[in-house]
Amino acid sequence: RRAATGRAHGKVIVLGEHAVVYGAPALALPVPALECRATVRLLDRPDPGPLLIRRAVSPACGPAEPAEEGAPEELRLLVDAFARRAGLPAAPDVEVLIESRVPPARGLGSSAATARALVHALDALFATGLGDRELFDLVQVAEQSAHGLASGIDALATGSDRPVLLANGWTSAPPVGAACQVVVADSGGGPGTRRAVAMLRAAFTRAPARRAAFLDRSAKLVGAALDDLAHGRLADLGRRLTDYHRLLAGLGLTTDRTEALTRSALAGGALGAKMSGGGLGGCVIALTATRDEADAVAGLLAREHGVPTWTVPVAKGAGHG
Ligand code: MEV
Repeated sequence: RRAATGRAHGKVIVLGEHAVVYGAPALALPVPALECRATVRLLDRPDPGPLLIRRAVSPACGPAEPAEEGAPEELRLLVDAFARRAGLPAAPDVEVLIESRVPPARGLGSSAATARALVHALDALFATGLGDRELFDLVQVAEQSAHGLASGIDALATGSDRPVLLANGWTSAPPVGAACQVVVADSGGGPGTRRAVAMLRAAFTRAPARRAAFLDRSAKLVGAALDDLAHGRLADLGRRLTDYHRLLAGLGLTTDRTEALTRSALAGGALGAKMSGGGLGGCVIALTATRDEADAVAGLLAREHGVPTWTVPVAKGAGHG
């Protein structure tokens, strides 16, 4: 039996979540930590049959759950789209084993990481030689289905090895003027990105002026933050993060726990802190200049709140694309 494996990693949104769904710019950071990777193994099936997906839930995401059988709608749609692209007469007869260590519903891009790993595995098994754009489009088939509306930033960041800026429909790597560290702290699962995106859409339909004000403020903060990042002004960048947190809090996207984590991170010396991703729970990020400072913040958050943390280094470098 032929077999293939695909991999992808999680991500955090540094700034611009939710606004990016409406076309405003956003900045994301890949989280390549071992605890935040998704692997998909594919096996040819000896006998034809319906798409079979088994999910091994990693102990890193809480108590192990029994492998669940069946095919989630978004992954079935993805496999169908892949079959069309590859010119296969029907969905391929494959067994899919998902081993995701990306905790779900945390704003860590778990759905995009799984979808991307699956696309890579399909691409390898059928030797389709998909280009970046085609890979992205297939991941987006799953993301649109999973989230209702998806900007594509998760689909991009889960396959990138450097920060990703999505602006005006273009993706690029922003220049980074000074190395820094981003501490990610997991407050636990929320109801998921789909719910948060739908909640905002309903609020904005009722009050379109709120949407315009949010997008305007968001674009200004992201623009200023990119300038700070390019020039290595980390203290200013940190303040933008905290300001963005307040903006999202004003939309009802924070929880007592993400508020408490943000406050503790700031009290512990972080230059800035905010909820990250869809919100209504999930992860908080905190910016520091050095690894020692990051370790101090991560240690404090773990001690005071008992949460898992990861630290993601951001290297100094020229932007591109
Ligand atoms: C999720 O990581 C980020 C959101 O802006 C949704 C999206 O961009 O598709 C909340």
